[in-house]
Amino acid sequence: MTIHFIGAGPGAPDLITVRGRDLLGRCPVCLYAGSLVPKALLDHCPPGARIVDTAPLSLDEIVQEFVAATEAGRDVARLHSGDLSVWSALGEQLRRLDALNIPYTVTPGVPSFAAAAAALGRELTLPEVAQSVVLTRTSGRASAMPDSESLAAFAATRATLAIHLSIHVLDRLVAELTPFYGADCPVAIVFRASWPDERILRGTLSTIVAQAAESPMERTALVLVGAALGAEAFRESALYSVDYQRRFRGRGE
Ligand SMILES: C[S@@+](CC[C@H](N)C(=O)[O-])C[C@H]1O[C@@H](n2cnc3c(N)ncnc32)[C@H](O)[C@@H]1O
Repeated sequence: MTIHFIGAGPGAPDLITVRGRDLLGRCPVCLYAGSLVPKALLDHCPPGARIVDTAPLSLDEIVQEFVAATEAGRDVARLHSGDLSVWSALGEQLRRLDALNIPYTVTPGVPSFAAAAAALGRELTLPEVAQSVVLTRTSGRASAMPDSESLAAFAATRATLAIHLSIHVLDRLVAELTPFYGADCPVAIVFRASWPDERILRGTLSTIVAQAAESPMERTALVLVGAALGAEAFRESALYSVDYQRRFRGRGE
C-alpha cells in the first residue's frame, strides 16, 4: 500500500497534473489540506472514498490515518496546495513514513509563484535584468527564518523575489527592500492566483503599501518584487537569435 503525495496546484481545479488527477481517482482514501486545496478536486475521488480535511489535525493524527489505511490495504492520496517542494510539510511526513517503512510517491504540482507569474503575464527572468528567482518568506509564528536568510541578503542580489506567507508585513518588506531595489522598483501582489476571486495589484515599492491599504488582501497572496516585473527594454535572449540557430541548431543541441 502506498501514500501518494500530490501537488494540487495553486487553486484552479484544472491546474492539477494529469498524473495527480488519475491518482486521486484510484485512491480509496484522500487526505487534503483544506485551507488551500480546492474542494472541486475531491470530485475526482472514487465513490465512497474516505475524505479527510487535515487542517484541524496534528501530525500524529495524520500519521495515524496513513497507518490505518495501510493496515486496511488502502492507498492514500495526500493533497497539498501548489507544489510539494516548498512549504508543504512534506519533509516531516516522509520522515515518519520512512521510520514506519510505509512506501510513498511524490507527484509535483504547479507552484503558486508560477501561477502568479502567469496571472501577471510576465517572465520572472529576463536577459541582463534578472536571471534568478528567490522563493522566500519572512519569519512567522510557526517558523523563524535561519539567520543567514535575511531579506536584505537576498535583496542585495536584486534577483526577482517571490515572497510567500508575508502579505501581513508588507510595510516591513517595503522598508527592508527599498534601499536595495530603489523606490521605483516594480512590485506586484497576486491574491489567490488562479482562484475565481483572484486579484492583482501592480505598483512600485513607493506606492504598494497605500494601494494594498485601499484593497486589503488576506493571507493567500504572493508579493513579487524586481525589475523584471516592469522591464520593457530588455535584450532578446540568444536562444532564438539567428546566429545561435546557425551555430548550434541542427547538431542535436
Ligand atoms: C503554506 S505556503 C504553500 C506554498 C505552496 N506549496 C506552493 O507551491 O506555492 C502558502 C503561501 O503560498 C502562497 N500561495 C499559495 N497559493 C497561492 C495562490 N493561489 N495565490 C497567491 N499566493 C499563493 C501565499 O503566499 C501563501 O501564504
